[in-house]
Amino acid sequence: MTIGNNSRAYELGSKVCYQIYIRSFSDSNGDGIGDLRGITQRLDYLVDLGVDCLWITPFFPSPQNDNGYDVSDYCAIEPVFGTMDDFEELSREAEARGIGLMLDMVFNHTSTSHVWFQKALAGDPTYIEYYKFVDAEPGATAENPGNPPTNWESKFGGNAWEYVPQLNKWYLHLFDVSQADLNWDNPQVRSELAKILRFWRSKGVGAFRFDVVNLISKPEVLENDYEGDGRRFYSDGPHIHEYLQELVREGGIDGLMTVGEMSSTSLESCIGYSNPDNHELSMTFNFHHLKVDYPGGEKWELMEPDIVRLRELFATWQEGMATGGGWNALFWSNHDQPRPNSRFGDTDRYWRESSELLAVCTHLMRGTPYIYQGEELGQTISDFTTIDQYRDVESLNYYRILQERGHSPKEAFEIVHARSRDDGRTPMAWDDSANAGFTSGEPWLGLSGNYTQINAKAEMADSASVYSFFKRLVALRKAERTIQAGSIHFIESADKVIAYERELDGTRIVVQCNFSGVEQPGLALDGGEVLVSNYDEPAAPGILRPWEGTAHIWR
Ligand code: GLC
Ligand code: CA
Repeated sequence: MTIGNNSRAYELGSKVCYQIYIRSFSDSNGDGIGDLRGITQRLDYLVDLGVDCLWITPFFPSPQNDNGYDVSDYCAIEPVFGTMDDFEELSREAEARGIGLMLDMVFNHTSTSHVWFQKALAGDPTYIEYYKFVDAEPGATAENPGNPPTNWESKFGGNAWEYVPQLNKWYLHLFDVSQADLNWDNPQVRSELAKILRFWRSKGVGAFRFDVVNLISKPEVLENDYEGDGRRFYSDGPHIHEYLQELVREGGIDGLMTVGEMSSTSLESCIGYSNPDNHELSMTFNFHHLKVDYPGGEKWELMEPDIVRLRELFATWQEGMATGGGWNALFWSNHDQPRPNSRFGDTDRYWRESSELLAVCTHLMRGTPYIYQGEELGQTISDFTTIDQYRDVESLNYYRILQERGHSPKEAFEIVHARSRDDGRTPMAWDDSANAGFTSGEPWLGLSGNYTQINAKAEMADSASVYSFFKRLVALRKAERTIQAGSIHFIESADKVIAYERELDGTRIVVQCNFSGVEQPGLALDGGEVLVSNYDEPAAPGILRPWEGTAHIWR
């Protein structure tokens, strides 16, 4: 079954989301950290770009060990980011401009500072049941706790279990040791989480992102993983669909715009999460296409991106989700990824072309595009030269782990520099003044030196800028029903080329993207008019120029 032609596709397919990493977006009070009022002050910029919905990363009370993904209270505002009044003002001002807010719900784990975890630590049996606690071996001590319950690895490095001497138990943390995994098998936990959704609904919030939500259902039997880090046991776990359906129903969010972040997931699972018949989520993020430069799946080693593999993955997911009635979130970039133009493009020789090529490739696909702050300007990875410029817990852990694995400090630094989440978290470049207009104080994380050229003010004034190109792509999606709801089919092409066609009611769009700095053979097209291209002049027929991304249309 294809949903190419129904109203849901028009609805989701006509929207564009914009991701705000709040710490790095806009600082209103000079403390060097972005905040809610900073977002409110920049709303007109987002109106100019044309986006519909703002996903704002967590701004709830948190010790900030993982920059807000370690939540200690889900129904309040972290003072560093502002107050509930600031949130309400932002929400009103956004709504007045036709922009919705999407809140980031971190429900796989809480901060260990959350009152639930604190009560668990104090021995309250009700709250011990809120988390994944497992008894230690008899005779365990703080100095010598024995073996953890399984050999599973934390996503941020090291074992995923932490021993608590006063309870003589271990708790699971798939992320940092200060992010304790919740026990979703406990109905009380599920009902607490649904209550949090109802709280934000009552504040008028109409869209939600769910952080690593396919990790919430852990297996009943905990066993060692001798083939991997444990993820095959808990990703898309046994009760995942049941728990999501309950959360959506009890949280009162069925039919709202929702997206789930799916870690190491499958096409089949994502169809399940996003097919409307299941009443789970509107769409899913998956990350397979962002691993085509991980040798053997290893994030912390380097290789050139494999474009043939990239095309295969896009084809599988785009065509497969259409067939199964699912819906994709379309993206290259977020706060967990280094900037995609530095990674898949050539920011030295073809900065503009390759930044725009990436946008053409995903913005015309079937799904809902997400733009990550600064991506629309072509912001690049950081130009950091020493490890002490980094802040991210994962990056700092791996800098150490890579050296333990035998890399020299220089090699470890090069890998971290190419892979670090901080490389995509450098502050938004607003203009060419000090600190790019992001803050009047000392920014919490350094800026890229190229902000004097790559910034919003300069690019808004230039009709040939990356910003203006993104703006055109956003407008195009709103104008062309074939982009919103057309079928999708990938076309055979040269190894460095990704090409696909969209079709709806006799209108056909063909997209061709050259992922290389040399000319590539293009398709032999029969006429058609250029719908959008990152080159002004049409190419000679059958040729794609370096980093060219062009779409033709037949009406
Ligand atoms: C998601 C977030 C990431 C965070 C992790 C744990 O992957 O995007 O930033 O560290 O979940 O919450
Ligand atoms: Ca601030």
